[in-house]
Amino acid sequence: MALEKYNLKLPKAVYSGTDAMENIPEILKGTGAKKVAAFTDKGLRSLGLFDFVEEELKKAGVQYDIYDDFPAEPSYQAVQAVIDQFKGKGYDFIVACGGGSVMDTAKLASVLVTDEYGVKELLDDPKRAKKCLQILTIPTTAGTGAECTPNAIVGVPEKEVKIGIVNDNMMSDFVILDARLIKNLPRKIAAATGVDAMCHCIECFTSNKCNAFSDTFALQGFDIIMNNIVKACDDPTALEAKNNMQIAAFYGGVAITASGTTAVHALSYPLGGKYHIAHGVSNAMLLIPVMKMNAEDPKFRERLATAWDQAYHGDKRLSTVDEKSEALINWMDEIVKHLEIPSDLKEFGVQAEDLEWLVEAGLQQQRLLVNNMKHVEKDDARKIYQQVM
Ligand SMILES: NC(=O)c1ccc[n+]([C@@H]2O[C@H](COP(=O)([O-])OP(=O)(O)OC[C@H]3O[C@@H](n4cnc5c(N)ncnc54)[C@H](O)[C@@H]3O)[C@@H](O)[C@H]2O)c1
Ligand SMILES: [Zn+2]
Repeated sequence: MALEKYNLKLPKAVYSGTDAMENIPEILKGTGAKKVAAFTDKGLRSLGLFDFVEEELKKAGVQYDIYDDFPAEPSYQAVQAVIDQFKGKGYDFIVACGGGSVMDTAKLASVLVTDEYGVKELLDDPKRAKKCLQILTIPTTAGTGAECTPNAIVGVPEKEVKIGIVNDNMMSDFVILDARLIKNLPRKIAAATGVDAMCHCIECFTSNKCNAFSDTFALQGFDIIMNNIVKACDDPTALEAKNNMQIAAFYGGVAITASGTTAVHALSYPLGGKYHIAHGVSNAMLLIPVMKMNAEDPKFRERLATAWDQAYHGDKRLSTVDEKSEALINWMDEIVKHLEIPSDLKEFGVQAEDLEWLVEAGLQQQRLLVNNMKHVEKDDARKIYQQVM
């Protein structure tokens, strides 16, 4: 039998653990970098988290400028504004330290050094992206996995949606997972970003694009997340659980490179684009309704049963696929509820009359909907949104 074709993409090097940031001077020396553009956000700077990076840049003796003036989950115009400041300054390396918003902005910067095209042109034709600068990504949430995906997500205000620009040239070259950065992650952010990582793993594992490579990372990541997320969020001293979440979020990102997310992420994009609901929050809201809809498909239930077998280490003895898939959905539901992530769209100003717009906008996300095992029709999307409003 011929080997099926599938690809896994990985950064050149990944460093993890406490003090992993100390590898920065060595990385910069290896690449010959002399002038670095450092991306972060104002919140992280005021918390002193960027100081860890700055200290290493100083040790490395490189020149650097800091770019932190852009909002969380930026629009493509906001990203372009930062890139306009950064262009033409002769940088030879990029360091990004932050959550998905910072890393995605910096990844776009790494392919937008010349005047040939801008972010808008990449939205129209992502294939145009050419790598100009090497990049080191250092996530501070656990998280998007953006440190190791070829994706950058931007808001498109005129269409009131978020759109993913995907091109392998935006893969990060170096990743540092430094445990110190997520040690004091506020519970609300840890919960939403942790459930985002959970979604990456379970969606990639149940995607039409799933394969042996993505399954390995998705299952392992899922197992770690299911058994660590509550502790990592609830117990400020649970460093091991937090470190585990950082690694698992990275695994989720790797799984995305070989597989792809499905209807949870697809239907979530209009909620971020129009109502500015944080990415992890909108995914958490839709996760259970989408899982329940997909579980009508026996193939999907089989995948959930396998995920249950991998992740559940307790005393319950379940034997059938149906029992296991139902138990897994209930377990994910308990976790999302326990983490107190908002669960009602009304809290974000979504009105009953917005439903049809949401359905139309959600169905536009065919890049991801084609990955969903069950074909998502208008009625399906409507039922999903109705459950959270
Ligand atoms: N490229 C990808 O593959 C990918 C995947 C999933 C999501 N995304 C995108 O990533 C963005 C969301 O990223 P995110 O969920 O990491 O959040 P974020 O980067 O938007 O950050 C959210 C908030 O958390 C704060 N924060 C981050 N780390 C912190 C820390 N350690 N301590 C205290 N505060 C901290 C930030 O300052 C910010 O205010 C969205 O735009 C989403 O669409 C990208
Ligand atoms: Zn996500």
